[in-house]
Amino acid sequence: MIRQPKPHRSGALPPKFAPEVIPHHVALVMDGNGRWAQERGLPRTAGHEAGEAALFDVVEGAIEIGIKEISAFAFSTENWRRSPDEVKFLMGFNRDVIRRRRDEMNELGVRVRWVGRPKKLWTSVIKELETAEKLTADNDVLTLNMCVNYGGRAEIVDAATALAQDVKEGKIDVSSITEKVFIKYLDEPKMSDVDLFLRSSGEMRTSNFLPWQSVYAEMVFMDILWPDVDRRVLWRAVEEYALRNRRFGKA
Ligand code: FPP
Repeated sequence: MIRQPKPHRSGALPPKFAPEVIPHHVALVMDGNGRWAQERGLPRTAGHEAGEAALFDVVEGAIEIGIKEISAFAFSTENWRRSPDEVKFLMGFNRDVIRRRRDEMNELGVRVRWVGRPKKLWTSVIKELETAEKLTADNDVLTLNMCVNYGGRAEIVDAATALAQDVKEGKIDVSSITEKVFIKYLDEPKMSDVDLFLRSSGEMRTSNFLPWQSVYAEMVFMDILWPDVDRRVLWRAVEEYALRNRRFGKA
C-alpha cells in the first residue's frame, strides 16, 4: 500500500499549480553543507548530515505537486579530491542514508535508481544502491535518481567509449549514430531531460551535473544553504519555473 506524503511540519500546503507548469524532472545540486556547518562552528560532516532531512522533505514536497523525477547529486566524480576523511565520511553516509531511507521511499511509491560510475565506488555503497533499486523497481509515483560517483563528462566519455567499441565490433554502423542511439550508452538511458535545475547556496554553476540532459533545463539558483532547504523552497522554485517561457530552439 502506497502512503501519501506527510504534510510539511509547518503545516504549509503546496501552492495551486496548473498541471502543465509542473516540471517533470528536477535536478538538485545540494550545495552549501560545509558552509552551513562552518557558520555553526561544526565539522563539515555535520552539514552533510543535516542535508539528509532536506533532501527527503523535498522528495515529499515533489510528490505533493506531481513531480515525477528527481536527480540528486550525492557524490561527484570530482568529490574524490576532498580530504580522505571527508571522502570516507561521504561514502559511509551515502551507504547509510540509502539503507535508512529505502523502506520509507518504498512506502511512498518512490523508485530509487543509482546513476554513476562503479569505478572507485565502495562496494558496500553499490550493494545498498542495488538493494534499494531492486526493492523499489516497480514503483511509479516518483523516480529518485541517486547520482553517486556521477560526473557529466565521465558519463559522456564512458558512453563514447562503449559506442566506439560497438562500432569496432561491427555491432553498429557509424552512419546510424544519432542522439537517440547515443542516449542508450549513457549511465541511465531512461532518464528524462531535466526541466528544472535547482542549486542551493547561491553558487551559479552546474558543476558537471547532467550536462547532456540539461541543455534545455531552466536554471534556478537559490540563495539558501542546502541544510536550510525544505519543500517550500522547491515550491518557490517551481513558481519561478512556471513563469519561464520555454522555446526549445523555436521562435
Ligand atoms: C555540497 O556541499 C554537497 C556535496 C558534496 C554532496 C553531498 C550532499 C549531501 C551529503 C546532501 C544530502 C545527501 C544525501 C545522500 C542525503 P559542500 O560540502 O560542497 O558545501 P560547501 O560548498 O559549503 O563547502
